[in-house]
Amino acid sequence: MHPLQCALQVQRSLGWGPLASVSWLSLRMCRAHSSLSSTMYPSPERQEDGARKDFSSRLAAGPTFQHFLKSASAPQEKLCSEVEDPPPYLTLDELLGRQRKVYLETYGCQMNVNDTEIAWSILQKSGYLRTSNLQEADVILLVTCSIREKAEQTIWNRLHQLKSLKTRRPCSRVPLKIGILGCMAERLKEEILNREKMVDILAGPDAYRDLPQLLAVAESGQQAANVLLSLDETYADVMPVQTSPSATSAFVSIMRGCDNMCSYCIVPFTRGRERSRPVASILEEVKKLSEQVLQLIHERDNICKQIHLPAQSGSSRVLEAMWRGYSREAYVELVHHIRESIPGVSLSSDFIAGFCGETEEDHVQTVSLLREVQYNMGFLFAYSMRQKTRAYHRLKDDVPEEVKLRRLEELITVFREEATKANQTSVGCTQLVLVEGLSKRSATDLCGRNDGNLKVIFPDAEMEDVNNPGLRVRAQPGDYVLVKITSASSQTLRGHVLCRTTLRDSSAYC
Ligand code: 5AD
Repeated sequence: MHPLQCALQVQRSLGWGPLASVSWLSLRMCRAHSSLSSTMYPSPERQEDGARKDFSSRLAAGPTFQHFLKSASAPQEKLCSEVEDPPPYLTLDELLGRQRKVYLETYGCQMNVNDTEIAWSILQKSGYLRTSNLQEADVILLVTCSIREKAEQTIWNRLHQLKSLKTRRPCSRVPLKIGILGCMAERLKEEILNREKMVDILAGPDAYRDLPQLLAVAESGQQAANVLLSLDETYADVMPVQTSPSATSAFVSIMRGCDNMCSYCIVPFTRGRERSRPVASILEEVKKLSEQVLQLIHERDNICKQIHLPAQSGSSRVLEAMWRGYSREAYVELVHHIRESIPGVSLSSDFIAGFCGETEEDHVQTVSLLREVQYNMGFLFAYSMRQKTRAYHRLKDDVPEEVKLRRLEELITVFREEATKANQTSVGCTQLVLVEGLSKRSATDLCGRNDGNLKVIFPDAEMEDVNNPGLRVRAQPGDYVLVKITSASSQTLRGHVLCRTTLRDSSAYC
């Protein structure tokens, strides 16, 4: 829909309602589509203070018709979620969080967890601080669920509890603001504001960008709401902030809304029409998460510093035929990035020798990649065509078997040479080893893994326990021991055990 058309529809649907409502809608008109409802709710019982008077006078001098036309002729979505231009009745300063502390509480599904992260990302950029302590909060936001009646009842009960926080709040502190976000705000709209006068703001699932504005309006003592649904809001540019530092998993949202209209379900009405997030934005978020993983591997001693990065081939031409989705250059760049992020990281890889159409030149490229990266571990295979695969239908298995095997042998030789060189840098070092058990080859040796996930073999001997001086112990599976490395091959390190220790006690050994 053309934005101007959209604006006109807004005006018609409101019958040129109160200026406050219209000016509010002008903020959203380029995004507004389906259920239009966004209003400020004046509460006459509240005292008019200086801020309110100031606000009211600015409101009276509010937007003109020209303002609507101006907004309507600029239909592009703001791609940056930094503090938006204030509407005419607010100053930029009022949009800022001014270090107010926000407490966010999430109810319901994973989408709500994601919404909480989006809402927080927007508020954080506006200068709000986060708190996990309810008593400390200046703003309490409940990200709500409407899926079943019980979910809503939980929120009503919670609101009753929060009421006392608001009434008991000392005058010396800024007034506490309470907001309802998400599905319940969308489903019940002003019913919430009418029923619970202590609720200051409502924001539907597509209105989180307006949170700073809504809170700014609430500052002046008014209730404020935006429950407009959108056809295209995906928060593509808002990178969610992981809210729980102890979370063991992260969710990447790829779409919003639902068009299925299952006969029992409220979701299409609370979350609006189905829309997909742009692929580039999904990729950017995944990239950020991967960066976080690299950082964690680097920081944490209890995570092994090893990454498996299956290359399959060193030739960009073959990689394209394999449909791998990266070139040799991109792969090498990634290797450099990982090595910079995690110094001393151990890299392993898979390679296929003799894929369809592989020439001698392609093979040489793979050999050179093995030399360039110098993997610590490798898994190398001769190509065998498999039915049903794309290669089976579209390509020719044209590298003769003996050529495949010869190339495989060459790859293995080069891999071993390089891995031996890489592993020999450990000789003379003392390494922390996680004991796995008896060595497969010798009953008098134990086997464990170092921080690079490389096998370390050492004689099963008595040793001291660093936490119990004088106590002689034998290493058990699961123990951490320090091993002095004395020799290295392409597959394993050998050494002798020094003592039993713990992760915490063993500071950086090479
Ligand atoms: N022929 C040879 N090797 C293959 N791999 C997968 N499919 C084939 C095939 N048809 C190898 C790849 C993969 C590893 C698990 O097995 O290198 O990364």
